[in-house]
Parts: sequence; structure tokens; C-alpha cells
Amino acid sequence: MKILITAGPTREYLDDVRFLSNASSGKMGYALAEAAVAAGHGVVLVSGPVALEPPAGAEFHSVETTGQMHEACLRSFPGCDGVIGAAAVCDYRPRERFAGKLAKTGGPLVVDFVETVDILADLGWQKEHRWIVGFALESQNARNNALRKLGAKNCNAIVLNHPQAIGSESNRVELIDRTGKTAATWNAGKAEIARSLITWIESEFGPR
Ligand code: C5P
Repeated sequence: MKILITAGPTREYLDDVRFLSNASSGKMGYALAEAAVAAGHGVVLVSGPVALEPPAGAEFHSVETTGQMHEACLRSFPGCDGVIGAAAVCDYRPRERFAGKLAKTGGPLVVDFVETVDILADLGWQKEHRWIVGFALESQNARNNALRKLGAKNCNAIVLNHPQAIGSESNRVELIDRTGKTAATWNAGKAEIARSLITWIESEFGPR
């Protein structure tokens, strides 16, 4: 199979030197890319800024903003069999990006934020024969939120995990299939979870 994987955080700039982002390390997405390459799959890794080396053998696209990640995914998706959305994409961006560096005024600064494009949902609604696996990082109403995202993004499965996953070497996840059933639960290192998820994807969506 040829698998598109998104990884890491995105950045949304307020001006030319300041941005909104999050603490995603990219470890889960890179572990998935590594596991998919090791299993003999073609991999396109689209990643926000992280301190990790992309695995040898993967086609690598380095991006910063959600818009850039979206464009890179739209270009690669038609040539892939499916996508795993492991990126921690910013949900909001400042409405305006100011040129240069905003100066202090002595008063409060009010910034208007607008929603970013939902990359996975966009791919999900144009997937045709391709499969979509999302991640959902949830702190409350976790399973219900994951089920809502599974439907809203037209995913074939969603991996529910929790804020403790951020920056950690390990993870505790529930894999939920498109019917809402628990397909697996894994509590292990991210490399092991990545191998298990790739094996599950092969059995569900691979050539028979
Ligand atoms: O941020 P959210 O909880 O909605 O993320 C769920 C899934 O959707 C993840 O797989 C994430 O990579 C993806 N996503 C995306 N574009 C966004 C927001 C989330 O691809 N703007």
C-alpha cells in the first residue's frame, strides 16, 4: 500500500515572528511512518516542525502552517491508498497575519481567531475508494467526542488517546472502527502501537 501520514504540530502566525502551536512531538506519526516503511509500504510523511529525523525510505514533506499541510496532503492523497492523520493540527489561526513584528501599545491586544481548514475531513469527504484513519486526543467525554469525529470526518477508524500521550514515549489507545465498535486497545510504547495499527490496517484495507 501507499500510505499518507500527517505528523507533528502546525503553526499559525500572528505576525512574522510569533505563532500559535502546541506541544506535539510528532513521535506517534513518525513511529507510524517507520512501522509502515518497515512493513514494506510506500510512505508519504507530511510533518510540521519537530525534532525528529524522517525514516529513510519515506517521501518527506516538511510544512509549517495548517494551510501548507493541507496543500501537501491534497497533492499526495490521490496517489495513496489511505491516510493516517496523526498530526496535532491547530484548530484556530489568527484572522490576520501582520507583516513584521507587532509592537507593544501599552494596552491589551485583542486577537480574532478563525477556524483552520480540517484537513482530514476534507480528505475524508473526497476519499472514494481510499481509507481514512484519524486520531482523537480527548480529555473529557472522550469516547463520544471520538465517535463524533469519526462520523464528521468520514473516517474508517479513529484512534482515541489522551493528553498524557503528548511528548510521551508510550501511549494508551482505543481503536474504534467505523461501526463504533472497539477493534483493539493498546497500552504500549508508541513504536509497538504503530506496528499494531499498521498490521490492523493491512488486515482491514490491504489487498486480499
Ligand atoms: O483536532 P481534532 O481532534 O479534530 O483531530 C482529529 C483528527 O483530525 C486528527 O487525526 C487530526 O490529525 C485531524 N485534523 C486535521 N485538520 C484539522 C484538525 C484535525 O487533519 N484542522
